[in-house]
Order: sequence, then C-alpha cells, then structure tokens
Amino acid sequence: TVTHAETPCKGSLIVVSNRLPFVLVRNEETQSLSRKASAGGLVTAVAPVVIRGNGLWVGWPGIQLTSEEEPIPESDPSDQTPTAGLKSSQVVSVNLDPKIFDSYYNGCCNKTFWPLFHSMPGRATFSSDHWKNYVTVNKHFAKRTIEALEKHHKNNKSNGTPIVWIHDYHLMLASNWVREQAEERKLECRMAFFLHIPFPPWDIFRLFPWSDEILQGMLGCDMVGFHIQDYCLNFVDCCQRNLGCRVDRNNLLVEHGGRTVRVRPLPIGIPYDRFVHLAETAEKVLKTSKMKIVLGVDRLDYTKGLVNRLQAFESLLVKYPEHRGKVSLLQISVPSRTDVKEYRELKEEVDQLVGRINGRFTTANWAPIRYIYDYVGQAELAALYRDAAVCLVTPLRDGMNLVAKEFVACQINKVPGVLVISPFAGAGEMMHEALQCNPYEIDDAAEVIHRALTMPEDERILRMSRLRSREQECDVNHWMRTFMKAMGTVEFDDIGTTTM
Ligand code: F6P
Repeated sequence: TVTHAETPCKGSLIVVSNRLPFVLVRNEETQSLSRKASAGGLVTAVAPVVIRGNGLWVGWPGIQLTSEEEPIPESDPSDQTPTAGLKSSQVVSVNLDPKIFDSYYNGCCNKTFWPLFHSMPGRATFSSDHWKNYVTVNKHFAKRTIEALEKHHKNNKSNGTPIVWIHDYHLMLASNWVREQAEERKLECRMAFFLHIPFPPWDIFRLFPWSDEILQGMLGCDMVGFHIQDYCLNFVDCCQRNLGCRVDRNNLLVEHGGRTVRVRPLPIGIPYDRFVHLAETAEKVLKTSKMKIVLGVDRLDYTKGLVNRLQAFESLLVKYPEHRGKVSLLQISVPSRTDVKEYRELKEEVDQLVGRINGRFTTANWAPIRYIYDYVGQAELAALYRDAAVCLVTPLRDGMNLVAKEFVACQINKVPGVLVISPFAGAGEMMHEALQCNPYEIDDAAEVIHRALTMPEDERILRMSRLRSREQECDVNHWMRTFMKAMGTVEFDDIGTTTM
C-alpha cells in the first residue's frame, strides 16, 4: 500500500467536501464568476491550514459551471474571510449534471441519510435510483480528488505525504476509489474521514439497504472521526455486526481488508476568539432592555425540535403567567434545503404554530414570539447571543450543535445568560453546566425554561464561567490540532488567532 500510517507528514491537506468553502455567483450580464465567502467554523479552521500548507480543496461550487475547466476566480481584494487566501489554483471544482446532483443531494443525502443518521427512520425514503446517483457522484468526487492529488505531487515534490480529508455523509463512498487509484499511480497519501452528523446505532443503520457499502467506504480511510464517543462506538459496532470485522472497542480499532482503521472522537469547537470579539464590538440589536429574551437560532430543520420548543414556550406561558408581558421568545429560523418537501412542510407547520400562539397571548404592548425566517449576519447574531437571557438549544437529535458554543462565547456581560441544552445534541455530552432539557417532554421543558429565567445571578455566573473556559480551550483550532496530531503530523504548528 502507498499509505503509511506511521509516516509523519507535514500537514499538506487535500480537503474533499460537498461544498467548497465559498459559493460561486455568476453575473447574469457579463457571465463572469465571483466568490461569495462562507463564515462557518469548519471553514475558519481548515482553510488556513490548506492555504499555508499549499494544499487543495475539492468541492461543489454551488452553481453549474460551463465545464470543470472553467477558471475559478480569485477572491475579491476586500474579502476578509479565512478563505480569502485560498488561491484559485488551490481549488478543484466538481461540476455535476443538475439532475444527478438533485438525486444525490436532495434525494440520497437529505431524504435518506439525514433522517436515518438522526435516528428518524420514519422520515427516510429508500430509493435505488438515488443510491445509484450517490455512487456516481462519489466516484466523480474520487476522480477529481485523484486529479488534485496528482497536481499536489507535481507541485510539492518535497512536501511530505499529504492528507486527503473527506468530509461528511455526502461522500461516504469516495475513499476506496481514491485509495485504489492512488496506489495504481504511486501517489502517496494518508486518508481521513470526518462525519459531521451523528452515527446511528446498528438497529437503525442496518435499515439502509446498502449499509455494507457505506461501512466499507468509510473504512477505506486510515482514520474515521466522529464528534463524540457514542458515535464512534455505534460505528465500531456496525462494522462488527454488518461486516464481521474484528474490532477493539477500548482502543476504537477496526480491522478491515488487511488494514487497521482508527476510529476517533474529535469534538469540533468554534472560533471562540472571533465570537468574543464580535460580542465585544457588535452594536445593540435589542432596544427593549426590560424585556427578557429567550433566544433560539437554528436552520429550519425537523431535527432541531422547533415545534416542541414552541409548544414548551406556550406551556410556560400557561403554567407561569407571570412571564407574560415580560418575556419573549425570539426564534431565528434560517432557510434550509427548501427543495425537500419535508422542509417546506415544516415551514408551514411552524408558521401556523407561531401564528396560533401569538394569536392566543399577544396584547397591545407585547407579543410572546418574534419569529425571523431569514439569514442573520454574524455581528447581529453575536449581539443577540450576548444580550439574551436564555438560549434554547433543544434539538431532537444533533451531531454537535455550534449555536450552544457560540452563545457561550458571546456571554461577556457581567451577569450572563443561561444555556438550556438537549441531551440529544453532541454538545450536550460535554456542556454539563448548562440546564438539560428533554425536548420530547413538553411540560418539563417549560419547567426548565422557567428555572433558567429565574436562576439566581451567582449560579448563572458560576455555570457560565465553567462553560466558557471549556469552549475557549477546546475551540476549533484545538479540534484541528487534535486531528492533525491523530494523523501523525509532525510539522504542524498552531493556527494562532483566527481571522476576525
Ligand atoms: O451538519 C451537517 C451539514 O451538512 C453541515 O456540514 C452544513 O453546514 C449543514 O449541514 C447544512 O447543510 P447543507 O449543505 O445541506 O445546506
């Protein structure tokens, strides 16, 4: 094999993800392309390492290109985001036929893997057509990755063994094709996979008709990473029960095809310093300082438990009428995957529920729910996090959940707010000082919100200071360092402070 688990490498990264770290926008008149940057935590951490190590990023640019050879534009000189330094020569675009892309992304990824991996099999559809297109797209990503690897080897002769790092449930099959082609062409590389969503228990995973292929695909890498230990154990269990692999549960090792694959919990963090800086500089958004704000920030997704949260807030107003006129729920729902029917139906349901609850309680001077269905900029978000009394992070299931972490980072006021978190989010595993809330138990959730709203100041300060130190220490740079160390990288220095 051309991959050497023990060979140290210098940290050149070839990242492979469904989306590139920016989207391309085409000017209708001139047909010219420009980049629209993304500010996500993953991009903030990974992009600087790709840039510095002269690595590459393989991904879909968000629009249809005329061909894969169509030149990617350089970033705009005014671009201050972490991807600004990513040269067009470091980008390998994946151009897909719109019909195939629709079946792979909206079909297999979002109608099958998303609900299934979030332990909601009732919402999952199984289609051999979608699966066929998922295979096709993964093969195509693998082909482009090999081209990237060839380019890397040509341009970086003395730069050590690169790491091909494949991300998420969109690309669970790509690794073996990359591995085989790399071996054939004598292109050295080490390979890792990271799943950003939960990995379900065997009883759910095995419902997927092609579950063996998925495991074999993931096992094509030298290391497979998940957010938390539970997901690692689920994966190891599935490898043993589906494929009959020999496994070591204590050391999280799986033997497959004559290789030993390491499985690792790598809980992602946020760019903590950036959020503190945003909270310190963001102007006030909430003008009514007497009103206590209970904040919710989510993509509009059925896994986020929005219906349950609204019902819990309604129950709070019934059980504890003293909060009426004094507390409002500010719910920000970010539009997401609107091509999928379930997401459009959820929007209808939430719109109606907000209307009903507001109709039931609103007075001339107060409305219980303020509902925003839109994208909100990071500065505005930081101001809202900072000034909210309570933040509700109550998903039914969530791989990690970064909102909980961003809220904590922004708690710079002398008397901080309170975080309420669901144990079914990966973040709930570690944020012990937050108030735990089972979103399925509506009345109890109402009790927890009441407890958060009435928590004494000293208790709020104590809980928040502990939450903050952990998030500061285990930020996204820490995640990146841990990953690189786990891959055996020797010449990897600190990323330092993230770009503001
Ligand atoms: O959490 C998984 C994830 O795929 C993220 O990587 C992404 O930011 C989010 O869901 C939104 O997904 P999409 O790319 O489908 O808009």
